[in-house]
Amino acid sequence: MGTRSSPSANSKGIEVSDPRVETLRWRDGRLEMIDQRVLPAHFEYLAYEDAVGVAEGIRSMVVRGAPAIGCAAAYGVALEAQKQAQATLPAFTAALEEAFAVLAASRPTAVNLFWGLKRMRTHWERHSHLPVPEIAEALLLEAHEVLAEDIRINRAMGAHGATLLADGARVLTHCNAGALATAGHGTALGVFRSAVEAGKRISVIADETRPFLQGARLTAWEMVQEGIPVTLITDNMAGHLMSRGEVDAVVVGTDRVAANGDVANKIGTYMVAVLARRHGIPFYVACPLSTIDIEIPDGNAIPIEERAPEEVTGFRDCQWAAQGVSVRNPAFDVTPAELVTGLITEKGVLLEPNRERLRDFLKA
Ligand code: MRU
Repeated sequence: MGTRSSPSANSKGIEVSDPRVETLRWRDGRLEMIDQRVLPAHFEYLAYEDAVGVAEGIRSMVVRGAPAIGCAAAYGVALEAQKQAQATLPAFTAALEEAFAVLAASRPTAVNLFWGLKRMRTHWERHSHLPVPEIAEALLLEAHEVLAEDIRINRAMGAHGATLLADGARVLTHCNAGALATAGHGTALGVFRSAVEAGKRISVIADETRPFLQGARLTAWEMVQEGIPVTLITDNMAGHLMSRGEVDAVVVGTDRVAANGDVANKIGTYMVAVLARRHGIPFYVACPLSTIDIEIPDGNAIPIEERAPEEVTGFRDCQWAAQGVSVRNPAFDVTPAELVTGLITEKGVLLEPNRERLRDFLKA
């Protein structure tokens, strides 16, 4: 769907050395997103002109990571509004409603997608008395603000989270909760970046994160770009390293936190949390407030995306499993709140989250 645009750096991603990678950017009236499916072998932007294209970009994981998906959805609405800026009010309204529906159907688990859409709808309602071109302009400005705000939030989370890590800490992370999963800086990786900025020597252990390899392809790439020491392991090595005393803390991101503090994140996170508890290692979740869904009572009610079997039976052109084998491919799992040492938010750190503490924390 997206058209290839000329990359700002070069098309062989390994050599790109600008750490301020813009995961999403607005250029010449179009949304450009780094194609995360081909990193790190290739660094290139795809350009989008309407909501259907952006929804496909989300579904096919050109862009992924909860906050980045929220930003993309906001731009999806803004793009559609721009496209219909000269339409009659009924035609504009119908097109926008269709845009909201197609974007909402793109991926189910990350609540930031729905948060982003709700924010755009509220903004639309607030400006609905204006002529159509002015509504379209207001929606574009709001998408820009969603993007800018995400970076501010990640920096605030990073500052809070950095205080939890000791100088010299060896920190394990799962999946990619970095600049690529957000508008910039990252959530979990933002904590590492902020700790390094504060002068702490941090080293990162990146789980490769089967089956989509966000850890091996994206987290490792981000850390290498910035010169933050990183060691890549396969997912089944985490317990061994913990048992040898080689992990001081775990920090991961999240796609949705339920009202009782249960945390949905990339498949395999639950396994890491259980291992961390077994070995007395703190398990932190970097969690913007937009990822907390107080309408979901507990983790059992969080919709878990099931993705295509081909992601498990092979990778790209290489298929290694027998044809016809039956496959499960849940993309996320739920870590019960009791295994979470703390939620790192832009408002501060909530230790040992549970229903009551989370409610009071959000109210305060
Ligand atoms: O399937 P993905 O790559 O979108 O999953 C991403 C994750 O699970 C991240 O850990 C989560 O979105 C937090 S990103 C700051």
